[in-house]
Amino acid sequence: KSVIVINGPNLNLLGKREPEIYGSTTLKDIEEQTRAHGDKIGIETVFFQSNSEGDLVDAIQRAGASHSGIILNAAAYTHTSVALHDAIKACGLPVVEVHLSNIFSREEFRHHSYISPVAAGVICGFGAKGYGLALDALADLID
Ligand code: DQA
Repeated sequence: KSVIVINGPNLNLLGKREPEIYGSTTLKDIEEQTRAHGDKIGIETVFFQSNSEGDLVDAIQRAGASHSGIILNAAAYTHTSVALHDAIKACGLPVVEVHLSNIFSREEFRHHSYISPVAAGVICGFGAKGYGLALDALADLID
């Protein structure tokens, strides 16, 4: 079982970026924690981050070839990207949408997600821990 964890724009800055909202955990920390959790529950984890919408679409398109599920924090593209919505629909894999922050307690423009209608489920507001929760949820889905 293999899951790809895809992170979108500005998440490479985690740890330095608005720590009062996103915490002090870096993306590298998140990847290490998620990999360790995956090892424990018998799921291989692979990581990809990009600031470019097209590269994220490419990663979702490619995922079907070697993975059985996707954890996706599309960051700001969550709220704008029909292209990511369509890519998820086309790829046929279960996707768990993750956000570190609770997008519903923040600005109005973060309340709508193009990802949610095509995701198996959404985890938001639990910080870095959300990735581990998403992995547990996906593990059941791809059983
Ligand atoms: C985010 C929430 C988005 O609204 C924001 O644009 C991000 C991060 C989160 O993980 O809380 O970049 O996806």
